[in-house]
Amino acid sequence: MIKKTTTSDLNIFIRSEIEDEHEEVNELIFKAFSESYGIDTGTEMVEHFKAERKKDTFISELSLVALLENGKIVGQVTLHETNIITESGKNTQLTLSQSAVLPEYRMLGIMREMVIVVLDKAKEMGYGAVFLGGNPAVYGRFGFEPSCKYGIYHENRTKMGDEGYMVCILVPDALNGINGTTSYYG
Ligand SMILES: CC(C)(COP(=O)(O)OP(=O)(O)OC[C@H]1O[C@@H](n2cnc3c(N)ncnc32)[C@H](O)[C@@H]1OP(=O)(O)O)[C@@H](O)C(=O)NCCC(=O)NCCS
Repeated sequence: MIKKTTTSDLNIFIRSEIEDEHEEVNELIFKAFSESYGIDTGTEMVEHFKAERKKDTFISELSLVALLENGKIVGQVTLHETNIITESGKNTQLTLSQSAVLPEYRMLGIMREMVIVVLDKAKEMGYGAVFLGGNPAVYGRFGFEPSCKYGIYHENRTKMGDEGYMVCILVPDALNGINGTTSYYG
């Protein structure tokens, strides 16, 4: 899957990352998080991501990169599988663990394009919902809403009215009759 999109004056290509790009993506995650939250967070996020790549919950088609025309990777976003644990068993959906854009390419709409593409791709692959813990002001615009509305909570943040644990419903009724907790947080 390759999607070409224009953000401001840039042509951006969005597709799944390939194995040869792992190092460049690791470096991007480090730079993006270090710049915003400090070197310790940058290091922590990279180590976490490297470990996640090795798990069964990592779906390589849903780990996307945004590239410039010259091939430079300027952004990445990844969805991982997550289980909703219900009284009658488990239901497998997805979690958006993180998105990152290089500091010098921010506020050009790159994250927005990557999120739109990755949600479309997830729907195409048959998933019904994507969870995340994050800022409602950022993710509300992509259709994320508090998951407590659906009776689904993160196991560490089960309080009613938690606006920061959110879900984007990809397929209407995907969560009908499903109540429970998720544990994956990305
Ligand atoms: C968060 C991040 C990925 C945004 O990337 P970006 O390409 O600059 O975002 P976009 O230009 O696509 O912005 C999309 C929308 O989100 C808004 N937005 C972007 N960053 C924001 C922020 N930090 N706070 C609030 N809103 C933000 C933009 O104004 C834009 O709004 P619009 O749709 O109304 O125009 C980038 O700043 C980054 O890598 N930050 C460090 C890592 C991080 O915090 N990741 C997210 C949490 S895991």
